[in-house]
Amino acid sequence: MTLHLVDDHDAATRRVTALVSTAIRETPSLVLGLPTGRTPLALYAALGAAALDWSGVRTFNLDEFVTLAPDHPGSFRAFMDEHLFRHVNLPPASIGFLRGDAADTAAECARYDAAIAAAGGVDLLLVGLGGNGHIGFNEPGESLRAETHVVPLHESTRRANAERFGGDWQAVPASALTMGMRQVLSARRVVMMATGASKADAVAAMLDGPLTTRCPASWLQAHPDVTFVLDRAATSGRRVR
Ligand code: F6R
Repeated sequence: MTLHLVDDHDAATRRVTALVSTAIRETPSLVLGLPTGRTPLALYAALGAAALDWSGVRTFNLDEFVTLAPDHPGSFRAFMDEHLFRHVNLPPASIGFLRGDAADTAAECARYDAAIAAAGGVDLLLVGLGGNGHIGFNEPGESLRAETHVVPLHESTRRANAERFGGDWQAVPASALTMGMRQVLSARRVVMMATGASKADAVAAMLDGPLTTRCPASWLQAHPDVTFVLDRAATSGRRVR
């Protein structure tokens, strides 16, 4: 486990931008797993502006809202198009994404797992941290699932995503498709970025608590090659430093 403790969100963004840029330069055929959310916004702006060749890269996003078509403005696919994909020379055929509007969601999940396997697995998976400890959309609860699956979203998660739905959390779909814990833990390298005081409790549980389904991100402690990039505010809840 590598822990980069930096001053603030900008410093965390610079650190992760450097990590991803190096990975793409060293491995032009990189298979890259990606999150959406507020945390990577500046990261994607920096990657979009960097002189990087994405022509050989393949990407797989972590999750998508059930029911939403890729061109729905609230979809994660639309978010990625807006903030990263349209700014880099990533071939459209190299973008792996879950279809929220799939008629058969179980078949869609199986298709996604097979597509990731066919790509040789994920080399570098970037993840964010839910304020409730979720990773991807693996929400805290009694149990976790290994494979890509449909998950009901907690109200707190829907509220956190309300911005792209006119601020109305009830307009945020009630469930999502997400990579499961096997996809997260079998990525060859994981980089977790979390910043801000709203993540402090989740960061403390993730790093210092037991491995528990109550904090899905705590399972990253078991990953053999995980890098945490955290700012001071996000680590303010830790008792052990
Ligand atoms: C989104 C995802 C989520 C977010 C998490 C943090 O694709 O997988 O796990 O990474 O909810 O979101 P922000 O960055 O908005 O705080």
